[in-house]
Amino acid sequence: MIIKQAVFAGSSQDIEGKPQRALPEFAFIGRSNVGKSSLINTLCAKKGLAHTSATPGKTQLVNHFLINDQWYLVDLPGYGYAKVGKKGREKLEKIIDDYISRSKEMVLLFVLLDSRHDLQKIDLEFMIELGENGVPFSIIYTKCDKSGVNVVNAQIEKNNAAMMEYWEQLPPVFKSSSETGAGREEILDYIDSILKTI
Ligand code: GTP
Ligand code: MG
Repeated sequence: MIIKQAVFAGSSQDIEGKPQRALPEFAFIGRSNVGKSSLINTLCAKKGLAHTSATPGKTQLVNHFLINDQWYLVDLPGYGYAKVGKKGREKLEKIIDDYISRSKEMVLLFVLLDSRHDLQKIDLEFMIELGENGVPFSIIYTKCDKSGVNVVNAQIEKNNAAMMEYWEQLPPVFKSSSETGAGREEILDYIDSILKTI
């Protein structure tokens, strides 16, 4: 898929506040600082479209980006950021839950995992809950430029094995880097293939 146009379409903290125009939505979630906003910028080839930061907790609202006047990419706040405190964390979790459980337009959720780390409890629990609630999701490993190919592949194999203890089948898994653009074409083609079935 070629992205001809990517424009910011609004920030919201609940479903009532999201853009009025109903179009298919593909949303990005994951632990704070995993690289959600960066990946959105790379997919759109537009630096600064979604705000990024080296400090976790940057994205605090649900941000919609209208793509090719046809569908939305949705940047969600991250979960599990300790430094915002219990109240702050609960507020972000409420925003995330509200979007995931109530957005009828969400076609698919991409769960982002850091390619350098073992599967974290918080990610596993989050995905188990998605499964229980029938939320369709795929996995994208981020920051793959930070390690060698073999190291990344070994880490993914290890994480796959950990996930297979809970599921019989894994969702689609992608490798990405916002630095090099690796994975960009695959992810966009995947979205395109889903859009064609709608
Ligand atoms: P929150 O909005 O705080 O939840 O974070 P986020 O998941 O949106 O992460 P963000 O895109 O803001 O990126 C966090 C940090 O990781 C920034 O310093 C990015 O430059 C860096 N980063 C993100 N993706 C990559 C990547 O693919 N490679 C490298 N090397 N750094 C990355
Ligand atoms: Mg962000």
